[in-house]
Amino acid sequence: PPVDTFDYIVFGATGDLTMRKLLPALYYRYRDGQVPDDSRIIGTARSPLSREEYQARAEKALKTFVKPDDLNDDTARRFLDLVHYVSLNGAEADSTWPALKSLLADAPADRIRVYYLATAPGLYGQICENLSTQGLVTPQSRVVLEKPIGTDLTSADAINDGVGKHFPENHIFRIDHYLGKETVQNLIALRFANPVFERLWSSDAIEYIQITAAETVGVEGRGPYYDKSGALRDMIQNHLLQVLCLVAMDPPGSLEADSLRNEKLKVLHALRPIAPEDVATYTVRGQYTRGKEGDKTLPSYLEDLGQDATSNTETYVAIRAEIHSWRWGTVPFYLRSGKRMAEKCSEIVIQFKAAPWSIFPTRPEANRLVIRIQPDEGVTLSVSTKDPTPTDSLSLRRADINIAFEKAFSTRYPDAYERLLLDVVRGDPVLFIRRDEVEAAWRWADPILKGWSENKAPLESYPAGSWGPAAANALLARSGHRWHEDMV
Ligand code: BG6
Repeated sequence: PPVDTFDYIVFGATGDLTMRKLLPALYYRYRDGQVPDDSRIIGTARSPLSREEYQARAEKALKTFVKPDDLNDDTARRFLDLVHYVSLNGAEADSTWPALKSLLADAPADRIRVYYLATAPGLYGQICENLSTQGLVTPQSRVVLEKPIGTDLTSADAINDGVGKHFPENHIFRIDHYLGKETVQNLIALRFANPVFERLWSSDAIEYIQITAAETVGVEGRGPYYDKSGALRDMIQNHLLQVLCLVAMDPPGSLEADSLRNEKLKVLHALRPIAPEDVATYTVRGQYTRGKEGDKTLPSYLEDLGQDATSNTETYVAIRAEIHSWRWGTVPFYLRSGKRMAEKCSEIVIQFKAAPWSIFPTRPEANRLVIRIQPDEGVTLSVSTKDPTPTDSLSLRRADINIAFEKAFSTRYPDAYERLLLDVVRGDPVLFIRRDEVEAAWRWADPILKGWSENKAPLESYPAGSWGPAAANALLARSGHRWHEDMV
């Protein structure tokens, strides 16, 4: 069903995220009849563009990022009619605000307004302050904060305080697009609708867990941002910790937002702190060097950054995390993420314990549950079965029980942003991050970053197109464990 009519005001509207994700996501929702025709998408940025010029950019974005089969000329034209543009520096209380004010004044005062902040996070507080002094924060206004919320706990607090002065917490939507991914939400269904899994979901049956988000791309023109950030801040502090929370949390009392978020928070609080002195034991950080993909040479990170660059920034992280709780004991949660790796793949691997005793000529392999977040969303459970090859003994062979969701349900899997953008309009915060979660995540990440900044763990290297530094294998080998790609 369609949501209520809304105005979506995007700050940072000429940026990559708006073009690549936000406009295509809103187009899909419009095409599927969920966006009322009198809604508006109002882009704002500093560039002095006319509405027509901005609509032309939006059209180009749709042509580039919407699948050709899904792009209908007539629908796209009607969608572009919803798009407006106001040239505005949101961080300055200068004279450019009246244009936005008068555009917004054309709509009834009780219309839902979403202020989507996709600028540098350091500006969020100032933009909210300006929205407030301009009288633009109505009871129906919400604000969306893109990541990263700060670069450490102190800066995150400053941003949250700045925004919190003008919007109540339940009108602040901190987006983590991993929570919009179907398979990430499916974790909740798999775990809490299928007792067969939940009964085994603890250190009693599980040996270790891996959460991987590997990318084949490099920094893709985002060098100036990425080099200040690095993989821990860019991927682990937010996306991977959120996935970890959904994998590890106790059953929430309901699907109500705070019920779920309270359980996630408990996991973050139970994360064993990794002190700066311990980073060499529990973490591996790496940076890619030049590598090969077939005949093609892949550039190094420094080459991707540009001329004569030097950098100590990690493009790869692997961490052995532990959740100190009755359920998890000392089960290792191996988290890793990297740029320019061998494959694009985000997945969760649950490695169960092996059978305690074998009556077979060979020892049965331990069961493994693989939850694929992307690509090819699905779930695979490996089991030992009888080898059908005629032999004189009962030999075992591994087989997979496999669900590929797109095939199983014959449906398109929407991009994460499609769901999340309209959840904001609906006022449903369940898939957004509460302030205390952001803080708990930084409290865990800060000492690791400190240890690295004091060079307490070496910056390893790995060839572009590989699975990461050798030290990451050693991190697991210490406990007799292996990364998924090395499992037979
Ligand atoms: C973003 C990071 O949050 O997530 C990017 O800033 C990264 O560096 C992206 O490429 C990965 O998202 P996805 O959906 O492609 O896994």
